[in-house]
Amino acid sequence: MQYLSAGANPQISRIGLGTWQFGSREWGYGQPYAEREARAIVRRALELGVTLFDTAEIYGLGRSERILGQALGEDRERVFLATKLFPLLPVAPVVEQRAVASANRLGVRRLDLYQVHQPNPVIRDGTIMRGMRALQRVGLVGEVGVSNYSLARWQAAEQALGQRVLTNQVSYSLVSRSPERDLLPFAESTGHVVIAYSPLAQGLLSGRYDRAHRPANRVRALSSLFLPENLERSGELIATLREVAGAHSVTPAQIALAWVIRRPAVVAIPGASSVEQLESNVAAASIELTDGEYQALSAAAGRFRPVSGPAALLGRIRARFTLA
Ligand SMILES: NC(=O)c1ccc[n+]([C@@H]2O[C@H](COP(=O)([O-])OP(=O)(O)OC[C@H]3O[C@@H](n4cnc5c(N)ncnc54)[C@H](OP(=O)(O)O)[C@@H]3O)[C@@H](O)[C@H]2O)c1
Repeated sequence: MQYLSAGANPQISRIGLGTWQFGSREWGYGQPYAEREARAIVRRALELGVTLFDTAEIYGLGRSERILGQALGEDRERVFLATKLFPLLPVAPVVEQRAVASANRLGVRRLDLYQVHQPNPVIRDGTIMRGMRALQRVGLVGEVGVSNYSLARWQAAEQALGQRVLTNQVSYSLVSRSPERDLLPFAESTGHVVIAYSPLAQGLLSGRYDRAHRPANRVRALSSLFLPENLERSGELIATLREVAGAHSVTPAQIALAWVIRRPAVVAIPGASSVEQLESNVAAASIELTDGEYQALSAAAGRFRPVSGPAALLGRIRARFTLA
């Protein structure tokens, strides 16, 4: 495993584990997954050197935090544990109360990284950061992070906190590249970190899905990326992933992850539906893409033009009636 230091203790693994899937009905993995597989995934991740574990109070309405905390057990204290506050009425006392509730569900005395899940469109960050500052003062929170923030808002949050807001967790993958515009250059030049969520585009980049084999769960049924037309349009990108994967004797999903973490300030938090997927994702940390491969993948990604907007909405309605 490779690690980013970023002054954090313990160091942050370049491949972490996302746990939205744990206990969340919308992923549709069922009770055996929540009760057994999720624990096995976490235990194997620990064995393989993963330190970054990401959850949120909203995932499964607290179930993800509980499952993760129980699975980590005594090892809770030696990982870099990240959770998120859903910023509904985020005044300081509420922020403090919700951090305590998350820590209790996780079974820890300290949240290594406490992130604001998304910008509140009405309430500015000064209010939230007052709560975060108090939490840091009493030692319940280590680092503060944000998620789905623009660069301007990330910087404003940092100014409001009065010290670094270490991370911004955003969608970053071969099919979601807007962080390259300003978030990555900022992080790379200042020692901040971008946490890439959905680095596999929720499984699209594994190449397992196509027009005839669409994933049947709520998360992906609602995503325009999985529309039959978009699955078809992703064909060239998937073919390029397969070609590079063949040269390294690995899978397209592993190449998609290697591409994401090639940028130095990025760590990725893929979710996993099985222990095998987790093992494969961790192994991606040691794949070295050549410059030529990196550019070929970026170029193929640049040519992928998914339908979006009203056309995608129409497609989703149509797909809803054809999905098994
Ligand atoms: N901050 C935010 O707003 C936000 C939003 C979304 C996610 N997140 C975080 O980011 C994490 C990851 O994002 P995500 O779950 O949306 O998407 P993702 O990591 O891109 O995709 C995860 C899915 O891809 C498939 N997969 C994983 N590893 C694979 C492998 N090696 N080979 C083939 N398929 C594989 C699995 O689905 P199947 O096996 O069913 O195909 C898995 O559930 C979440 O768990 C969550 O912690 C944060």
